[in-house]
Amino acid sequence: MYDLPNAIRKLRADFVMSGAQILEIARLFKGDMVSGLSGQKSSLKMIPSFLTRPTGEEKGTYLAIDFGGTNVRVLLVDLRGRGDYEIRECRAFPLTDPSGGFDFKSENSDITDLFGFIAKQIEDMVKPGCVYPLGHTFSFPIRQLGVNRAILLKWTKEIKTSGVVGRDINEILADSLKKQNLNNVVPQAVINDTVGTLLAGAYNDLRADIGSICGTGHNTCYLEPRSPITGGEMIINIESGNFDKLPTTKYDMQLDSASEHPGEQRLEKMVSGQYLGELARIIIQDFVDQGLIFNNKDTGILSKKHNFRSEDISQLLSDDTPGLANVSGWLGLRCGIHDSLLEERVILRSIASIAVIRSVQLIAATYAGILSHIDPEFCGVHTIAVDGSLYELTPGYSRMLQVTLNNVLKRKDLVVTKLVKNGSGVGAAIAAALVYN
Ligand code: GLC
Repeated sequence: MYDLPNAIRKLRADFVMSGAQILEIARLFKGDMVSGLSGQKSSLKMIPSFLTRPTGEEKGTYLAIDFGGTNVRVLLVDLRGRGDYEIRECRAFPLTDPSGGFDFKSENSDITDLFGFIAKQIEDMVKPGCVYPLGHTFSFPIRQLGVNRAILLKWTKEIKTSGVVGRDINEILADSLKKQNLNNVVPQAVINDTVGTLLAGAYNDLRADIGSICGTGHNTCYLEPRSPITGGEMIINIESGNFDKLPTTKYDMQLDSASEHPGEQRLEKMVSGQYLGELARIIIQDFVDQGLIFNNKDTGILSKKHNFRSEDISQLLSDDTPGLANVSGWLGLRCGIHDSLLEERVILRSIASIAVIRSVQLIAATYAGILSHIDPEFCGVHTIAVDGSLYELTPGYSRMLQVTLNNVLKRKDLVVTKLVKNGSGVGAAIAAALVYN
C-alpha cells in the first residue's frame, strides 16, 4: 500500500503530462482531423457548417434560438456592423418545469410540443409586418446536409423527446412556426454551439478562427482553409469530444464503463464539466477505500455517483486560506465530515487540481493540433473564442489554458484564447445574417 505522499505523487504522474506528451496528442488529433475530413475512419466527425467567417459588417435584427441542453433561450439580436451587436431581448426557459406542468425532455413529450412552446415565446417577441430571419443553435450530434438542413442522429445530455431522431430539425421548427402563423419568422441556418461561438468571436476579431465550448460539454470548431465540399474556407464542427487516442487511467475506465454510452465521447469524459466532478469523486473514493484519507468515515456525497460536481471542484480550488478553512466548511456541509485533518484537505484539493490540470492539457493539445493543421508554419496570429462555465468559472482554468498553449507551441504571440459570452445565441443571429444577405 502506498503512503499518502506516494499515492498523490503517482496520481500526478499518471495524470499530468509533459510538453512532449501533449505534442504527441496534438499530432494524433491532427491525424484524426485529416482522416475525418477525407471521409476515412476517424473518431472525429468533422461536420461541415456550410458557413464561413463574418466580416463584422453584417447588420439588421435577427432572431436566435439557442438549444443546447437544460435550457432553451430565444434571443432578439441587433447586429450593428463594425463588430458591434446588442442582445435586445432574451427569454430563457428550462426544458423541465414541474410547476409549469411540462417536461419536454421526457420520451412522453413530442418534439412538436417543444417547438410549439418555443414558437409561442417568439410570437410575443416579434412585430407583425416585419420579417425576422432566424438562426438556430442546436448542439447535438447531427448530420448537416446544408446550412439549413440538419438531421438529428441521436439525443445526448439526458434528453429523450420523441419524434425527432432521424428527422430534419429545421423542418420541424418551420412547421411549428407556420402553425403559430409566424410566417414572418424565416429559419435560415442550423448551427452547433461551437460554430456560434466562433461566429460571435469573429464578428469583432478578424483573427478568430477557432471556436470552442468548455462547459458541461466540450467541443471545438475551426475555419478550414480548404473544405472538401467547396475547396474554400468553411467552418467545420469537429465534434472533438469523441476523440479517443488518449492515455487513460483506471479511473477513466471506471467512469466510462459506468456512463450512459461507454466507449463514446472519450475526450469529453476526461475534460468537461459534466464529468470532471465525477472523475475527482472516483479518485477520492479510491483514496478512501485504500484507507489513505478519512479513516473509517462515511464520506456522504463522496460515495454516491454524480454527487460531486464541477462547482465543488471550483469551491475546493478557490480556498486560499492557510488552513484550508473553506474546504473544511465544505467537507462539513457536503460530506458530514467535521474533523478532517489539514493533510486530508490538502489531498482533496490536490486531486481536484490534478483533474483540472489534465483537462486543460488535453484541450490545449487539441487546440495545438488544430493550429498545426491550419497554420503549419505558425506564421499567423489566431484567436480561440471560448465559452462555457468550466472555462469561465473554474479558478485558474483560462489562464492555465493560455500558458499551457504558449509553452507547448513555444510562442507567446501566436494564439490568444478569449471568453465570448452568449456566443451560441449571438452566433446563431450572425449565421442567419450570413445566409439571409
Ligand atoms: C456535446 C455535443 C456537441 C456540443 C458540445 C458542447 O459534445 O455533442 O455538439 O458542441 O456538447 O455543448
